[in-house]
Amino acid sequence: MRRKLIAGNWKMNKTLSEAHELLLSISNNINSDILKNVDVLVCPPFISLSIANFILKDSLINIGGQNIYQENEGAYTGEISAKLLTSVGCKYVIVGHSERRQYFFETNETVNLKVKRALENNLKPIVCVGETLKQREEEKHFKIIKEQVSSCLKEINSDDIINVVIAYEPVWAIGTGKTASPEQANEMHIYIRNVIGNLFNKSAVEKIIILYGGSMNDKNAKVLLHMSDIDGGLIGGASLKSESFINIINSAL
Ligand code: PGA
Repeated sequence: MRRKLIAGNWKMNKTLSEAHELLLSISNNINSDILKNVDVLVCPPFISLSIANFILKDSLINIGGQNIYQENEGAYTGEISAKLLTSVGCKYVIVGHSERRQYFFETNETVNLKVKRALENNLKPIVCVGETLKQREEEKHFKIIKEQVSSCLKEINSDDIINVVIAYEPVWAIGTGKTASPEQANEMHIYIRNVIGNLFNKSAVEKIIILYGGSMNDKNAKVLLHMSDIDGGLIGGASLKSESFINIINSAL
């Protein structure tokens, strides 16, 4: 059985004091028993990682970054590396989010480099893939996802693949209130699992965690999270309030 992973992607939201308040609210209100069975992750903006590490140090809630640069250190003004994220206690990092692809011109090739840097530094990369509405309407979604998954995971060693998390986030469902139907999402998750099986090995197929992301909230989470191949959620808007985030976590079991 794969453990569910519920991850909050705060994006560019919450000042330091707001982050402090939200982190305290999550850690004070979460049912600690659920953390024995569900992996929980919060990905605040970089400036709040240090305080998140401090507030959550005695809890089972993990922290992660929303992006990294593809080098470990050096003269890259404004960037943050995998090595720097691990130094503030991060266990995960989101890479290749569609907003990064759209606004910061990230490609499958740069995402692949980021996956490699993350793994080298013991960070689990959450590799985001997803088709646009146009691509789905043109029925190119399976082809696009296969291309994204295989390019982003190029030259990744079979032993490392179980430390990679995939997040299927149809671009048309992100922040739009339109969720993929549970059947549409599950169909793609099964497809991604098969792609991984062809690239790596049978044990990877069983173990790899594949999250769904795109307007997941506390109303639709339960059905999505109980589909056969959906192993958790990458949650944007609904992770910004402790009540809805905790409700989603509670619906994972
Ligand atoms: P959303 O964002 O839940 O606000 O749609 C998900 C994401 O972009 O990771």
